[in-house]
Amino acid sequence: MEVNNKTIWVTGASSGIGMELCKQLAERGARMVLSARSKDTLIALAESLPGGLGRHWVVPLDLADADNLLDAVAAQLAEIGPVHVLINNGGISQRSLFVDTELSVYRQLMEVNYLGTVAMTKALLPSMIAQQQGMIVSISSVAGKVGSKLRTGYSGSKYAVVGFMDCLRAETAQQGIQCLTVCPGSIKTNIAVNALNGSGEAQNKDDESIINGMPVEQCVQDIIKAMLKDQDEIVVGKGISALAPTIKRFFPRLFNRMSARMEYR
Ligand SMILES: NC(=O)c1ccc[n+]([C@@H]2O[C@H](COP(=O)([O-])OP(=O)(O)OC[C@H]3O[C@@H](n4cnc5c(N)ncnc54)[C@H](OP(=O)(O)O)[C@@H]3O)[C@@H](O)[C@H]2O)c1
Repeated sequence: MEVNNKTIWVTGASSGIGMELCKQLAERGARMVLSARSKDTLIALAESLPGGLGRHWVVPLDLADADNLLDAVAAQLAEIGPVHVLINNGGISQRSLFVDTELSVYRQLMEVNYLGTVAMTKALLPSMIAQQQGMIVSISSVAGKVGSKLRTGYSGSKYAVVGFMDCLRAETAQQGIQCLTVCPGSIKTNIAVNALNGSGEAQNKDDESIINGMPVEQCVQDIIKAMLKDQDEIVVGKGISALAPTIKRFFPRLFNRMSARMEYR
């Protein structure tokens, strides 16, 4: 799908991959709808994009509040007009062993990463189907394709996103809807700093894998390339984090042994 003059709604627009998506897509002529919880950051970002706040929209929302997302989005749609692309990007990670992690952390990860994605899609897909064109992009993760230590809740929520997108693609293929699942490996953003520990607090420190990860600008270039080519699913990243799904697919026992030995953060 071409992005020039399209209206593209991005969740998690206040940081990392989402913020860079807004910058690069706006440069290509898209009208952006920016969502996350950090309203001031979203306003500053919208002002800095080509055309500023006169062309782009800020819609603060909390993905953990799925019950209210439908009404919140519907209230904006009348003003914004048709949305052509939804990018379900907002999310939160985890760095804690299963035995150390409270049940509430699993609920939070599923609510933000999975139910938030489902609710936003529910809010925006019907109008795309009515137009017989549209695109849903969901940012899952390599952790949605393979398992590694410290991510039982995060991986569960990201596997759920992959399954959701596979089913949605099958259901909407005849209605002009493209469904792209993006599985990033380690990308240099604040994801590790914001990742939850076993009690549900941000770990507030970076990880080696993220510090040495792919620059976010390059990750976003790859995502946009996949959007333009109407691809179904891509893995984006470098090194072991990007190779992991292929190793697991062809050598599953080898991968599982590697994963059990690795102290990958
Ligand atoms: N970086 C990586 O290595 C990597 C790898 C695989 C997958 N991913 C996925 O990529 C996506 C973007 O992450 P990132 O790397 O850009 O991390 P990031 O820099 O921490 O950004 C996360 C974004 O999600 C938003 N968010 C978090 N909780 C939210 C909530 N309850 N409601 C609304 N928005 C919320 C944050 O905004 P507010 O705090 O303002 O709400 C922020 O804009 C996530 O889905 C992540 O799982 C990242």
